[in-house]
Amino acid sequence: MIILRKKIIAGNWKMNKLPNEAISFFEELAPMVKNTENEVIICAPFTDLFYTLLSAQNTNIKIGAQNMHWEEKGAYTGEVSPQMLKAIGVEYVIIGHSERREYFAETDETVNKKLKAAHEVGLKPIICIGETLEQRENGETIQILEKQIKFGLEGLTGEQIRNTIIAYEPIWAIGTGKTATKEDANETIKSIRKEIANMYGNDNAENVEILYGGSVKSSNSKDLFTMSDIDGGLVGGASLDAEEFSKIVNYN
Ligand code: 13P
Repeated sequence: MIILRKKIIAGNWKMNKLPNEAISFFEELAPMVKNTENEVIICAPFTDLFYTLLSAQNTNIKIGAQNMHWEEKGAYTGEVSPQMLKAIGVEYVIIGHSERREYFAETDETVNKKLKAAHEVGLKPIICIGETLEQRENGETIQILEKQIKFGLEGLTGEQIRNTIIAYEPIWAIGTGKTATKEDANETIKSIRKEIANMYGNDNAENVEILYGGSVKSSNSKDLFTMSDIDGGLVGGASLDAEEFSKIVNYN
């Protein structure tokens, strides 16, 4: 079996940065990450996408959105379609972030529709899964993740699975400063890979990139990203500062 997984460091700006701040960030970041072999992605708010796409021209930084609708067009006030993102040059899209599941009623079912819609237009989805503190304390972590994978990824082709990035983000570790231990994160990601293998076979499971997210910073990125099954990170707060984010990208 040939394993082609690479390391991916993706920043999720969430609802942060005005266009002028986004442009300054790229001016600072681009020279600091130009020599990395890792994939560098910034997922920006919709209003920054155009500016970040221009700023990322002639750099190795790729641009992602943080959400989208699954329909191509129509009467969906306030929504943005996969085709709209694709048309301006966006390459990635985060789907089913825990904040969207919690505050905006996203479910495994809507996540699944969005994943399929992203693949249809050739956007690479970054699907987020993860357990709450309560679920973890009740020993339900694996069960919850299996359910999110089963229903969220249902019906994809093997090729689509290999072109999907999975981000394991334990909800209790997001924005709290609490990080899963590297051993714990690695073991959980192994279980996720096992579930993918059950659904899509070993070959696909060994080739899908699975990231860790939750209080990743420059002081813990190397420990996490050098574990056998962790293929990089989805970084929130620490992606807002170009220098800090560059250190995470350049962990190796
Ligand atoms: P923090 O890195 O701020 O904990 O956020 C993680 C996250 O939610 C990335 O999507």
